Amino acid sequence: MKRPIAMIAGTGHAVPKKILTNHDFAALGIDTNDEWITDRTGIKQRYIAGEGESLTSLSAEAARAAMKAAGVTAPELDIIILGTASPDRLLPATAVEVQAAIGATRAAAFDISAACSGWVYGMKMAEGLLAMGDAETVLVIGAETLSRIVNWKDRNTCVLFGDGAGATVVKRSTKGRGILSAYLRSDGTLADLLQRQAGGALRPVTPEVLAEGSNCISMAGREVFKNAVRSMADACDRALDGAKLAASDIDLLIPHQANIRIIEATAKHAGMPMEKVYVNVDRYGNTSAASIPIALNEALRDGRIKEGMTVMFVAFGAGFTWGSLVVRF
Ligand code: COA
Repeated sequence: MKRPIAMIAGTGHAVPKKILTNHDFAALGIDTNDEWITDRTGIKQRYIAGEGESLTSLSAEAARAAMKAAGVTAPELDIIILGTASPDRLLPATAVEVQAAIGATRAAAFDISAACSGWVYGMKMAEGLLAMGDAETVLVIGAETLSRIVNWKDRNTCVLFGDGAGATVVKRSTKGRGILSAYLRSDGTLADLLQRQAGGALRPVTPEVLAEGSNCISMAGREVFKNAVRSMADACDRALDGAKLAASDIDLLIPHQANIRIIEATAKHAGMPMEKVYVNVDRYGNTSAASIPIALNEALRDGRIKEGMTVMFVAFGAGFTWGSLVVRF
């Protein structure tokens, strides 16, 4: 089947009310400082979910905004795909809670566990469902409440992550707009480098697990960094090849927002000048599956993406998983 099949018809995002700046860590008794975090990561602040806020509520807010932008109503949705590493509950999927919250009465709903690559994986699934004729209107959400699964005693990780949700309505392509290429990969031999060791069915939560914090995110930062750059560079090459385009044909690169140094290294490899790279990691931190759809929504609202432009998305996350998309708007 010839691409484009599926296009982005509307986007939205939502973040919690509370902002935690780099300066706020001192008051939490965490031995870090603004200079270290800014130099190593480019992050200045992140949003943190508070009382009454949940993955479901943030996702539903982002979904309503995306549906409004696309001019579709909740009962028109055929499928809801939600990429997350921090579901409200382990069972059932948060996607079904979103389905209920927004009143998507006809929709099937499921979560994807592909960590920071969740939205890119979800977009590829949405395209496949449209291609098969199994859906006409798909809601793809990337959302996280990572603040609830980080170890607030571990300065190696707790400064990096933030909360938020981004949503995208995907519909059948018109006027040559939509996904021109998509590429997904994984390497589970490196699963231990970024993980939550306990808290699943294999090693349930016990007082011992809670004491050692092994139910929270742990990460071998340097190894993750190297693999992120290598994999995102590979994914950019593959997406361009798939679309039969050169880097100079891309108007904007929206990479996963984990760390400014990873973003810069990826852009350099892809041959994209930083003026053509969307960066908001300074304001959100790493929001994992939410990072690309939040950045996409901002880029559309800011006018950085205009009709006819070609945008490349590239993601990398725990698993490891990685992937890329080239999309014409
Ligand atoms: N504040 C101050 N010092 C900190 C710190 C913090 N928040 N976190 C770690 N340090 C210290 C370390 O303890 C270490 O001290 P030591 O040399 O006395 O042992 C020192 O800083 C250097 O640590 P290191 O891990 O070598 O730093 P780094 O340059 O690799 O940067 C990361 C650390 C986490 C920023 C970097 O590895 C990274 O960004 N990795 C990828 C993370 C990521 O994006 N993950 C998600 C991918 S989807």
